[in-house]
Amino acid sequence: MRFVAIDEWPPPARFDYRPDLEAGNVVFFPATPFELPEETKTFLRNLNFEGGAVHKNIAYRTASDRITGIDAGGAQKDRLQAIMRDYSRKAVAFAKELLPEYAENWKLDYASFRPLEEQGRELPLNKRNDLIHTDAFPSRPTNGDLILRLFTNIHPSKTRNWVVTDPFPVLAEKYARAAGLDEIATGGRFRRRSARLLKSFGFPVTPRSPYDRFMLNFHEYLKRNADFQENCAKYKFDFPPGSTWLTFTDVVPHSVHSGQHALEQTFIIAQRSMANPDQAPVAVLERLCGKRLRDARSAGSEPTA
Ligand SMILES: [Fe+2]
Repeated sequence: MRFVAIDEWPPPARFDYRPDLEAGNVVFFPATPFELPEETKTFLRNLNFEGGAVHKNIAYRTASDRITGIDAGGAQKDRLQAIMRDYSRKAVAFAKELLPEYAENWKLDYASFRPLEEQGRELPLNKRNDLIHTDAFPSRPTNGDLILRLFTNIHPSKTRNWVVTDPFPVLAEKYARAAGLDEIATGGRFRRRSARLLKSFGFPVTPRSPYDRFMLNFHEYLKRNADFQENCAKYKFDFPPGSTWLTFTDVVPHSVHSGQHALEQTFIIAQRSMANPDQAPVAVLERLCGKRLRDARSAGSEPTA
């Protein structure tokens, strides 16, 4: 695992960072390469969660320009929405400059604000951030496309402390079978057909390709595997205040041990935009099981809002 630091932005010469990201490295900017006004950071850090009107999970839905995680209307909600919209637009514009080949086919997912101190949070096992895992979205299957995330630490003084381990191909080789790859690859056609039918009648179901079902399983499998959590190779990254970093969070198994106040923008990257599409988790898994795991009927993934 490498930590690819970029000290100068814009760079003196264009460089293709796709191979670094796809191999499971973290691209890191010690200074955030786009402007975030001080008053924005202050507003976010001072949000008041007492009374429950502002939730602990604030998301900005890029496609519909909508914010979730705040019940109160009025000036505070408008301000929060404007701030999240501004962060999202700047992060997207910057990522487009950094990774233009991805931008041609990407789908913008949510931006979010993570206001809580990560250390000592009491969460159910499958929601714990301090256990090493690969990301998978229950409500937004990717059908083989990848999850790229850009994070910014806006805490005034604390680092955001990650521990990561070897990238997806290494883990898949060791654990994919134990996590149910072969069963998922051979079954489930009836289940998917039923889900599509129910969806066509307006039922709130999410049809998932075998790939998406496996990735959800794998997320949970890794978190439940105490031996893996204890004994896997560990690489520590402490992201300083004011820094920004990007990584594929389905390729890089990661955990967050401490840190507070982070902003984040998610992109769904089409497998066909990769410099090395054979390194996509879906390609790794298809080689391992000898079966197709993408759903042909929604190839290229569904739009995310
Ligand atoms: Fe994660």
